[in-house]
Amino acid sequence: MRVQDVMTTGRSRIRSAAARIVRPMLARIAPEEREFRRIWPMINSIEGLLVSPDQERWLFRMARALPDGSNIVEIGSFKGRSTSCLAFGCRGTKKKVYAIDTFSGNDSDFLVGSPVMQEDGKRGWPYMHYSGSFFDEFCRNIKKCGLSGYVTPVIGWSAEVAKDWDQPIDLLFIDGSHEYKDVLEDFKQFFPQVKPGGIVAFHDVVDTWPGPLRVWKEVASGYLVDTGRCSTLAFGKKRLLPTS
Ligand SMILES: C[S@@+](CC[C@H](N)C(=O)[O-])C[C@H]1O[C@@H](n2cnc3c(N)ncnc32)[C@H](O)[C@@H]1O
Repeated sequence: MRVQDVMTTGRSRIRSAAARIVRPMLARIAPEEREFRRIWPMINSIEGLLVSPDQERWLFRMARALPDGSNIVEIGSFKGRSTSCLAFGCRGTKKKVYAIDTFSGNDSDFLVGSPVMQEDGKRGWPYMHYSGSFFDEFCRNIKKCGLSGYVTPVIGWSAEVAKDWDQPIDLLFIDGSHEYKDVLEDFKQFFPQVKPGGIVAFHDVVDTWPGPLRVWKEVASGYLVDTGRCSTLAFGKKRLLPTS
C-alpha cells in the first residue's frame, strides 16, 4: 500500500468514526432547534435589540407552536429582527405577523436623530436615536429572509392603530414605546382582542426600563396565568373563560 493510500484510508476512518459520534448527538437535538440553528444566521444578520439568542429562539418557538391561521401582533418591529423570528415560525402555514411601528422612532424614548445608543443623564437609562425612516430596511430584511408573505407591516402609532383593530390575537408582543403610559395603553387597547389562552409578552421588563417593568408588575401579570421569563422578556397566557 502506498503512503498516499494509507493516509486516505486513515482520513475516511476518522470521518466515519466522527459521523458515528456526531449523528446520534444531532438526532437528540429537537427538530425545532435544528430549524432554529438553520435560520439563525439570517435572523442574526438583522440589527435589533433582543437578548441573543435566547429571545430570538423564544419568539420563533412560540410562533411555531401556534395553531394554523393564528394572528401575531408585534408592537415595535424596528428593522425586523423580532419580526423575522415570529415570521419564521409561520412558514408553511396561514399564520401571519402584523408588525406595528412608526418605522421612524418616536419623540420620547426612541428618538429620531443620530443612530447611537445614548445614556440619558436625567433618567439614567439608554435612549436609542434613529436617523429617519427605517421602513425600507425593514422590508428589505423581511424579503431577504423570504418572509414577506407572512408579514403585514402596519405603519403608525400603536395607539392609533389600536382604535381600528378588529382581529383576534393569538400572540401579542409589546416592544414599542417604553414609556409607562404608552406601554399601559398598548396593553389596555390590544389585550381585549387577545383570545382566551392567547400569549402576551413584554420586552425589557427590567429595572433599566421602568415603564414595561411597572406595567408588568402592577397590571399585566394580574391578568395572565402560566407566567414566565426569557431573560428580559416576560410573558403569560390570557385566562381561559370560566366554563359554566
Ligand atoms: C426597542 S425597538 C423594537 C426592537 C425590535 N423588537 C427588535 O427586535 O429589534 C422599539 C420600536 O418601537 C417603535 N415605536 C416606539 N414608540 C412607538 C409607538 N408609540 N407606536 C409605534 N411604534 C413605536 C420604534 O420606532 C422602534 O422601532
